[in-house]
Order: sequence, then C-alpha cells, then structure tokens
Amino acid sequence: MNKQLLSETAAAMVAKGKGILAADESAGTCETRFKSIGVESTEENRRAYRGLLFTTPKVEQFVSGVILFDETIRQKTASGVPFADYLAQKGIIPGIKVDKGTQALPLCAGEKVTEGLDGLAKRLEEYFKLGARFAKWRAVITIGEGIPSHTCLYANAHALARYAAACQVASIVPIIEPEVLLDGAHSVERCEEVTEATLRATYAALAAHNVSFEHTILKASMVVSGKANPRQAGVDEVAERTVRVLKRTVPAAQPGVVFLSGGQSDEAATAHLNAMASMKGLPWPLTFSYSRALQNPALKAWKGQAGNVGAAQRAFYHRAHMNGLACQGKWKPELEKQAA
Ligand code: 13P
Repeated sequence: MNKQLLSETAAAMVAKGKGILAADESAGTCETRFKSIGVESTEENRRAYRGLLFTTPKVEQFVSGVILFDETIRQKTASGVPFADYLAQKGIIPGIKVDKGTQALPLCAGEKVTEGLDGLAKRLEEYFKLGARFAKWRAVITIGEGIPSHTCLYANAHALARYAAACQVASIVPIIEPEVLLDGAHSVERCEEVTEATLRATYAALAAHNVSFEHTILKASMVVSGKANPRQAGVDEVAERTVRVLKRTVPAAQPGVVFLSGGQSDEAATAHLNAMASMKGLPWPLTFSYSRALQNPALKAWKGQAGNVGAAQRAFYHRAHMNGLACQGKWKPELEKQAA
C-alpha cells in the first residue's frame, strides 16, 4: 500500500477546475445509450465512441480522470495506443469500475445489493498493472414504500467498505458511490433523510473496516425531489440540502466529494454543482463525476458516424468546460449560449 501515491492520486482527481468523466457504462447500458441514437452496440463501436471522448483536444483542462469499463481498459486508440496509456500521457488519470453490477437482495423486496467482492484483490492487481490508479463501486439505494430497509443500507455499506479496503491495499483510490436513485414520487425531504441514513451507514462501515478516509473519494447523489414528485426542489434548495447532509456525515479528512448526475438534465447537473461549489467554508472540494450529463450532447451529435466526430468532440468539450467552471462556482447560464 503506497500511501504517498494514494494521496497524490486523490488530490489530482479533485484538482481545482477539474472533474471526472464516467465512461464505465457496462455493455448493457451502452446498448441502451446507443439504441437512442440508432447505433449498434458492438465492441468496435464502443471503442470508437470512447476514443472520440478521450481524444477530444484540450479536454484535459477540465477532466482529471476517466472511469473505464473492463473492456475499455483493454482497448486502444485508432493509432494503437492503449486507452489507459493514452490518457495518462495526456495527464488524465485512468480509473476502473470494479463492481459487477447489482442483484436482487434476498428477502428484501425491491432492493438491490452490488456484487463483485470475490476475486477482487487479484483483479485490482491486474488493473494497477494496466494503469488504473482509482476505482469505482456503485451501490444503489431505492426509495419507495417502506424502503430502503436497514438491511439494504448495511449490506451495501459493508460491500463498499470491503471494496475500499481492498483498493487501498492495491494502492488504488476507491471512489465510494452509494447512489440514492431519483426515480419515484418521493419528496425532497424524504431524499434528504434517506441520503443521510445511507451516508451514515457507509461511513460507519468504512471505519469498521479500517479504511483510511484520507485516501477515499465519495461519489454522492444530490438531494433532489423524486422524478415523479410534482414539487421539484429548485437549484438553491438542492444545493443547501445536499451540502447539509454531506457536512453531517462526511469526514473533513476526506480529500474530495464528486457527484453523479443520476438522470438530471445536463444543465441542471451543472447548475446544482455550481450552486454548491459557490458556498463558502466547505471542508472538501466538490466536483463532477458525470456520465450522462457530460456525454448526452456528444452522443447525439455523433450518431455513430465518423464524419460527426468533430461536432461530438466540441459538444463534449463544451459540457466539460461548463462543469469545470461550475466546480469553481464560476458558471453562469448565459455561458451555455456559446455552445458548440
Ligand atoms: P450518471 O452521471 O449518468 O448518473 O453516471 C454516473 C455514474 O458513474 C453512475 O455510476
């Protein structure tokens, strides 16, 4: 366990004005995304699309790291350079999703637990050799009638803690991602309550497993109204509730907090981040680790055609730029008009 490397990696992941691109969609998720633009999800199409994102000129100004999928970390650019090496040469840290997705949690109707602990230590060793310096594990918490249960919160927290400990031993910074889903008709108050309970369970488990807070990054969901709730909390309310929960639960020793976009619109994800990053006296840097909210416009512009690569890269650059400003509290809605 190389503590110096862990500290350097964690600090670089949340460096000023930068955030993380999540490009670790599983083959199944890629299929859904590609279907929306009428493109077949073949290994080559996935490689071409990821290559387009990674080779976007100057995007390293705003992107500190990229989360890769197992398939992607083994793929190469069009000129034959392994993606992980290409990114590292550009000053972008390669990361890797190491969980194996969610399964139904037995005896807990409607709830899920994330799998992937078996053989994890060995896989981490290999990923380190392939260039990965941070990892991601996503737990999913669903809000509904009588859920989440205590069982679900603790089963997922336990898995996150086991994962985080294994990562640190392998000198890989663990991104701890307990995502509270925005699907449902629940209120923003209920989301706040569940997010707080989720983070409390997560940090208790991390402490119980001797995980060093100094060498972890939290990937949090924002406290928002359920998608089907008629009262949608505004930008300032989301920012205030999210930061309140984080301050109550996340140790100040942690080097940074990144957010997922979770199905928010591109601009809402940017506006929320900007409002939070504008707050004074935060104990940690806050930034983005978006997949959809960074990639949506690029995916639509690309449509699977080589002739659209330039337009897609401009769209991606623009969203990365906007979020690079937002994580410093420097974004303004007017800046969106200068779009690609
Ligand atoms: P979204 O930003 O699309 O929610 O994805 C982030 C992520 O990495 C989910 O695990």
